Amino acid sequence: MTEVYSYRAEIGANWKLFIDAFAEFYHAPILHMKQAVKDEADKLAGYGYEALHYDLQPPHSMISSWGGMAPPKDLNMVKPIERVLRSGLFGPWDQPDIDGLADDQLPTALNPTGFHSWGQDSFEFFPNMTLLVWKPGWYLTYAYWPTAVDKHIFEASLYFVPPKNARERLAQELAAVTFKEYALQDANTLEATQTMIGTRTVTEFPLCDQELLLRHLHKTVGDYVKEYRDASAN
Ligand SMILES: [Fe+2]
Repeated sequence: MTEVYSYRAEIGANWKLFIDAFAEFYHAPILHMKQAVKDEADKLAGYGYEALHYDLQPPHSMISSWGGMAPPKDLNMVKPIERVLRSGLFGPWDQPDIDGLADDQLPTALNPTGFHSWGQDSFEFFPNMTLLVWKPGWYLTYAYWPTAVDKHIFEASLYFVPPKNARERLAQELAAVTFKEYALQDANTLEATQTMIGTRTVTEFPLCDQELLLRHLHKTVGDYVKEYRDASAN
């Protein structure tokens, strides 16, 4: 997967807040699907969300999720440009041939529950890297580089097999620009969260069961900081 699209941006939020947003997917039907066709957005909002699987391998972790249907079950669910280019947020609809894998075969680490409508697995490599593999046969990496307590550089790269023709190239480009739009939606809410935290009015966040990976991240960071402080004190 040598065809790469990359984005880099300074985000006005602590690096951990951005990881928090990518370590759970239940915000997606509410925050992101507002952009979908209205009937589809309303339907998804009504479903609610639960992940398929969580795995903690300290200090790392992963979450497995459904979703990411490509192509969609009903073509009316998506916008005209997606129908024309056969692509969208979840990637190009036509699965590429991948060396070493038979059709529909996955590398052993993926879709640990063997769920029929599995969509993506997200691996959080402590401290600052995410690897997100999508069912349609491509993947994303994120890196988070803290520059201040309330700022970081966010880098995202999308990896595809090289396109064989102009249509495949356009399908990849649509996935890449759609991804950017969704990342902006995430960044927007996170900068708002940072502003709220910065006031120190709110000092505690209740985390639900689905935020298992968030609890793991913050516990691990706390342990690292404590270890450093203890060592510095000696
Ligand atoms: Fe998001």
